[in-house]
Amino acid sequence: MRTTDTPGGIRSGANVRLMTRAVTPGSYDPVTNGHLDIIGRAAQLFDEVVVAVLNNKTKRTLFSTEERIEMLREVTAQWPNVRVDSWHGLLVDYCRENDIKAIVKGLRAVSDYDYELKMAQMNHQLTGVDTLFMPTTPAYSFVASSLVKEVATYGGDVSSLLPKSIEQRLQQRLDENR
Ligand code: PNS
Repeated sequence: MRTTDTPGGIRSGANVRLMTRAVTPGSYDPVTNGHLDIIGRAAQLFDEVVVAVLNNKTKRTLFSTEERIEMLREVTAQWPNVRVDSWHGLLVDYCRENDIKAIVKGLRAVSDYDYELKMAQMNHQLTGVDTLFMPTTPAYSFVASSLVKEVATYGGDVSSLLPKSIEQRLQQRLDENR
């Protein structure tokens, strides 16, 4: 049976199946192996995963939005159904504008849940968009971009927490800033 893609879904014969598109939002300053764990697993569950980088001009970041996008494109190239984008403003507006039905968030520990639950409920209240929580693979449960940056700043070994190319870019940026 011939299968054709349509803008809103995938048509297979007489049946139309809606495309499931999810977003994994974040600052990604920079992307870590913990992020990739969630993105890669979400890519197995949804037709398309949009990795959305927050472009917040008032928040100081180590890497520019363009740099964070470039790094994410490089390390997610292995998943053909993952694309990288940026947004500013409310996440729910970005979801509405891009026909995204689900927000996927990784949960590292119970401490994440408190804050994430409030955001998920607020986002649902605003537009009805749902948030799905995915438990982080235990090996990454302590990994956060902020901690990785701090450890690397003082010469700690972060090689197991980031893809090699991202670790190199992090070292380079920290050296530039010294
Ligand atoms: O990687 P981070 O910084 O923990 O990601 C947090 C992020 C960017 C996903 C969250 O702060 C967010 O969605 N910000 C966008 C603004 C927004 O929609 N705020 C209302 C949340 S209820």
